[in-house]
Amino acid sequence: MRLLDTLARRKLLVVTGKGGVGKTAVSAVLGRHLARAGRRVLVVEVDPRENLYQMFGLPPSGGEIIGAGHNLWIQNLKPRQVLDAVVRERLKLELLAKRVLASTIYQHFTEGAPGLNEIAILGHAWRLLSGHQKGAPPIDQIVLDAPATGHGVRLLAAPGLVTDVIHNGPFAEMGGELARLVADPERCGIVAVTLAEEMPVQEVLELREALLAQVRRVPEALVVNGLYPPAPAPGEAKDNPLVDLWRRRRGLNERELERLRAAWDGPRIELPQLPLDRGPALIANLQRCLEKGAEAWT
Ligand SMILES: Nc1ncnc2c1ncn2[C@@H]1O[C@H](COP(=O)(O)OP(=O)(O)OP(=O)(O)O)[C@@H](O)[C@H]1O
Ligand SMILES: [Mg+2]
Repeated sequence: MRLLDTLARRKLLVVTGKGGVGKTAVSAVLGRHLARAGRRVLVVEVDPRENLYQMFGLPPSGGEIIGAGHNLWIQNLKPRQVLDAVVRERLKLELLAKRVLASTIYQHFTEGAPGLNEIAILGHAWRLLSGHQKGAPPIDQIVLDAPATGHGVRLLAAPGLVTDVIHNGPFAEMGGELARLVADPERCGIVAVTLAEEMPVQEVLELREALLAQVRRVPEALVVNGLYPPAPAPGEAKDNPLVDLWRRRRGLNERELERLRAAWDGPRIELPQLPLDRGPALIANLQRCLEKGAEAWT
């Protein structure tokens, strides 16, 4: 099966990579592709600095699920908001819920408990996918624009850690459910994003090792983003500092692509650096590049 068709069958696609490499852009591009392929898709961004809405030329979502096109929705998720909603749902008495939410114990717990935010994020995705959230649009698939590398591994490892320490009760049940989801390559796909530059490539190779060690998974695909186009050879263009810079950047890209070819076995999709600002035109153009770049891979 073609790579993008395989990814389209996953309930949850987690997009991760080093900070600033284009995770949000790639999540938006994947979401747009999948919606056009007939899936009902929600792209969830977990980042207090809301960026995703700009990719679709929309006003900020303020945490709500908002429409971003046919079959496509986006949301900026604050893990704390999800945890508060769980407390409200479990404690039906409004006054009691208010007291718990305002208590210092609850504040300390939600800020300090390892893995709790990660469980909240995955739990939110799981509830939406299983149709448990009243009033939410009917969704087939979630693209999760995960926090940068270290946090991305933590996100996927958290359910396993929770089930190691909590054995009974609703948290153990949810942890178990999420651990099975994350471990199942038929339901949960992982997409890594990098630039073809030295540090991001180093970090994405380490990400792969960390995922293998901690979740026994490797990403289904690697997106190599922001590639400079081939530069004119000396003599082909009048030499000036810009052409020189372009040549050096492209040279760096080629060296790092070579390194990835040797070290990353598995599908790699290359995306160009486009001369466009963050917004719908960038996403639409990158979508075509993604589809073309993925054609060769199964
Ligand atoms: N292929 C591309 N061509 C042109 N611009 C791009 C491309 N990919 C990303 N960008 C731009 O680069 C910037 C960083 O991209 P993006 O916000 O997707 O990165 P990120 O990995 O989500 O960053 P962060 O870790 O800060 O969340 C954005 O302004 C985005 O519009
Ligand atoms: Mg981002």
